[in-house]
Amino acid sequence: MEKAIILSFLLVSLLSSSHAADFCVADLTAAPTPPATPAEESALTADDFVFTGLGMAGNTSNIIKAAVTPAFVGQFPATNGLGISAGRLDLAKGGVIPFHTHPGASEVLIVTQGSICAGFVTSSNKVYTKTLKKGDSMIFPQGLLHFQLNAAGVTSVAIVSFSSPEPGLQILDFALFGNNLKTALIEAVTFLDAATIKKLKGVLGGTM
Ligand SMILES: *[C@@H]1O[C@H](CO)[C@@H](O)[C@H](O)[C@H]1NC(C)=O
Repeated sequence: MEKAIILSFLLVSLLSSSHAADFCVADLTAAPTPPATPAEESALTADDFVFTGLGMAGNTSNIIKAAVTPAFVGQFPATNGLGISAGRLDLAKGGVIPFHTHPGASEVLIVTQGSICAGFVTSSNKVYTKTLKKGDSMIFPQGLLHFQLNAAGVTSVAIVSFSSPEPGLQILDFALFGNNLKTALIEAVTFLDAATIKKLKGVLGGTM
């Protein structure tokens, strides 16, 4: 008898506690405490699990003629805690996503329009590049430098998916030439000449 009571108590507590573990949709209005405060399940609707932004073309009127539309945890709170996120890449004619890394995630890219030349470099400096057609996918392992550039004469589009809700994004050109890193220091750490560095700073917005 006592055993049966203990068992049913265990069952009830198991059932009720298994509830919260399904997801952890971030409440972005709450104080930004890592990890994000989960929203109350009773307050959620199907829309909280849906992101509609990837259907729209990004604005490619910029120096790289490209746009990245993220559906990371900051834009798509339902990804919180689930180890996934997504994004969209728009590459106008001549567009490029310069060498960059996602420190927090591996990436899979799926070309949905046009053609994209993509590649990455391993830590032993081996290069893997491929020109992808519509429907092709390519993997970019976590943390490795990689790039994408339009290989079609028209706009190309890709959907990307990440193995983290917070993949992070660091673009090498902007890290070197788009901030206030001193020209002499860039010369020392890259072996480039000052004239080239100043030219790139001019294009990418670095201070002279
Ligand atoms: C796209 O970005 C450019 C440069 O920031 C801006 O001038 C333009 O208005 C934007 N276009 C749209 C449709 O938002």
